Amino acid sequence: MDDSRVLLAGSRLPAHEVERLLRAVTGASRTALLGGMAVGRDQKVRFRRLAVRRLAGEPLQYLEGTAAFGPIEVRVDPRVLIPRPETEQLWDLAMGMLPAGPCTVVDLGTGSGCLALAVKHRRPDVRVVAADISAAVLEVACLNARRLGLEVDLCHGDGLAALDPALRGRVEMILTNPPYIAESEWEDLPSEVRDHEPRSALVMGDGLDMYRRLAAEAAHWLSPDGVLAAEIGAAQGEAVVSIFAQAGWESEISQDLSGRDRFLTARPG
Ligand SMILES: C[S@@+](CC[C@H](N)C(=O)[O-])C[C@H]1O[C@@H](n2cnc3c(N)ncnc32)[C@H](O)[C@@H]1O
Repeated sequence: MDDSRVLLAGSRLPAHEVERLLRAVTGASRTALLGGMAVGRDQKVRFRRLAVRRLAGEPLQYLEGTAAFGPIEVRVDPRVLIPRPETEQLWDLAMGMLPAGPCTVVDLGTGSGCLALAVKHRRPDVRVVAADISAAVLEVACLNARRLGLEVDLCHGDGLAALDPALRGRVEMILTNPPYIAESEWEDLPSEVRDHEPRSALVMGDGLDMYRRLAAEAAHWLSPDGVLAAEIGAAQGEAVVSIFAQAGWESEISQDLSGRDRFLTARPG
């Protein structure tokens, strides 16, 4: 047996990371760990293995197996992107734009299901459809929906073609955090991202491909007052507005907490 305080003090990792890994391994609260508790031999071995992997650059959330997203926590593993704080802001923005009363929201490229499930959590009266091109990703979203006891429709397919045709003209909001990094930018990403997170969740063509597809196709799925809310790359605001304007949409860009262009909201003209 070791005292948790000895393990907390004896790692090369930052203290908050050691604490999170110890919590993942023991299931104990922060207070119990900081106050000093016995850590069993097996737990210590598991903790040491995780610490080695963390020192080698694996994202903390994959090691913990969970990520916080707004009001919920989702399971994550290397099949899915780790939800980002900007995407929580997209969720917040979207919640503020949803009409009162029952309506339908599509989360395109759902990954862990974080956006879809946080919408359903906050608004149980909304029908939420979560789509992704990857069957492996949808397994994670399905697991998260079950664990959280939230009912969302999962659809497998490429872009909006995954949706049930009966939804045409009936979707009040299309919400999406699509892959928006250009193939040419992949090598410049931090190795913690490049070596561990799924490339297919991040990269698509020149980074603007999914916005072009949405500008061409999304209006057919939206109801007359429907809106598209999408995350964009910090340098893509102008290009994305121009893509949507050319397709006849009226759009607006808003910023994240650090003042960078990050979100597109658009309505068919
Ligand atoms: C940036 S991740 C977003 C994941 C999650 N919504 C989030 O915000 O954490 C993009 C997701 O889009 C999916 N995707 C990529 N290409 C797609 C396509 N053509 N059609 C549907 N989904 C796609 C990926 O599998 C991935 O899960």
